[in-house]
Amino acid sequence: MRVLVIGSGGREHALCRSLSLDPQVSELHCAPGNPGVEEVATLHPVDPLDPGQVAELAVRLRVDLVVVGPEAPLVAGVSDAVRDAGIACFGPSKDAAMIEGSKTFAKEVMRAADVPTARARTCVTEEEAAAALDEFGAPYVVKDDGLAAGKGVVVTDDRDKALAHARACERVVIEEFLDGPEVSLFALCDGSTAVPLQLAQDFKRAYDGDEGPNTGGMGAYTPLPWAPEGLTEQVMREIVHPTIGELTRRGLPFQGVLFVGLALTSKGPKVVEFNARFGDPETEVLLDRLETPLGGLLMACATGELGLDPVFKDGSAVTVVIASEGYPEAPVKGDAIKGLQETGTAYVLHAGTARQGDDVVSAGGRVLAVVGHGPDQESARQAAYDLVGRIELRGSHHRTDIAR
Ligand code: AMP
Ligand code: GLY
Repeated sequence: MRVLVIGSGGREHALCRSLSLDPQVSELHCAPGNPGVEEVATLHPVDPLDPGQVAELAVRLRVDLVVVGPEAPLVAGVSDAVRDAGIACFGPSKDAAMIEGSKTFAKEVMRAADVPTARARTCVTEEEAAAALDEFGAPYVVKDDGLAAGKGVVVTDDRDKALAHARACERVVIEEFLDGPEVSLFALCDGSTAVPLQLAQDFKRAYDGDEGPNTGGMGAYTPLPWAPEGLTEQVMREIVHPTIGELTRRGLPFQGVLFVGLALTSKGPKVVEFNARFGDPETEVLLDRLETPLGGLLMACATGELGLDPVFKDGSAVTVVIASEGYPEAPVKGDAIKGLQETGTAYVLHAGTARQGDDVVSAGGRVLAVVGHGPDQESARQAAYDLVGRIELRGSHHRTDIAR
C-alpha cells in the first residue's frame, strides 16, 4: 500500500512513524512534512491547503491512500478533491469537517442528536454577547465560532475580558461552564460505523499546575488508569454513534477520526468540543500504544470496511512537548536543537522544526514531542523526562508535571 500523509506537525510525524512500521505500507510520502518525518517518508513541497495540488500529487505518486492530518486542509476541501480523483482518503469532507470548523454547526448537530453538551448561544452583536454572559454567569466561556488554531477560546471570571473577546471575533458561541476533568476520546469512523481508540488526556495550559495561557497542548498520556469503568462504551453510545448518525442523516457521512473532547461532570460526560482530526499531542501517545497496524486501519475507514476494535499494547505512554522561547504568545524561531538521539524507552517526534545546513532548528511554537513508554505511567513518564533532559534548545520551556 502506498500512502501520502498531509501535514507537518508532531501528529504527522507520529502517523508517519507508525505507518512506516506497518509491513503492509510499501511506500510512504508526506507533504510538506518536516526533518523528523523525512527519516521515514519522502517529502514533497506542496501546499497542504490547496486541494488541487494535493490531489495532483496523490495521482502522480499513484498512492492508494491519503491521510489528512490537520483541520485546515479538511476545511479547505482537500479530502473531497482526493476522493474526486478516485483515491481513498482518511479525513472527512469539507462539509462534515464543519463539526470542527463551526462551533454553531457542532452545537446544532448535538442538539438534533440529543448529545450531552454545555448549553450555548451563538452571538453576533455585543448586546447578544452581554445577554448570554449574564444568562450563564461566571466562569464565562467565549468561543470564536470558526477555526482559530487553538486560540479561539477564552475562559475567565472577568466579564470585561469575556466581552472583549466576543467583540474581537465576528461570531462567538457563549456557553455554560463545564466542571470536571477533561479527557479525549478518538473514534475512527468509516462513514457508517465507528470504533474507539484508548482514552487519553492532554495538558492545555502552558505552565505547571495548569497555569498560564491555553496552548495547542503541552503533553499527554494514555491510558487513564483513573477513568470510570465503562466510560468509553458510554461515550460511544451517548455521543459518537448519535453524532455520526445525525451527520449521515444530513448527507454528510463522516470518514476519518472524530475527536471528542469531554468534561466528566457530576451529571455525566459532556462534549466540550468536537474535532474532525487526530488530536495533537494525544496522537503521539496513542499511536505509541496501538498494536493494530495503522495503514490497514486507516484504509478500512477510507473504504467503509471498519471491522474489529483496534487493539492496544499493555503499558503506558507519556509525551512531553518542548516549546520555543515565547510560546504561545510570540515563539522565537531559528535556534539550533541538539540531543535528539532516541533511548531504549523514549524517542523524539518533530513538531515545529526545519533544516538549516547540517542543523535542525526550531521553526514553530511547539518544537518537539518527546515520547516515553514503559510498563506503567511512572516509568513512561521517567523515560520521557530523561530524554527531555538531554535535549538542548536555547530558551525552550516544557511542563514538568505531565502525567504526574
Ligand atoms: P476548545 O478549543 O473548545 O477545546 O476549548 C479549549 C479549552 O477551553 C478546553 O480544553 C477547556 O479547557 C476549555 N473549555 C472549553 N469549553 C469549556 C466549557 N464549556 N467549560 C469549561 N471549560 C471549557
Ligand atoms: N490536543 C488538542 C487538540 O489537538 O486540539
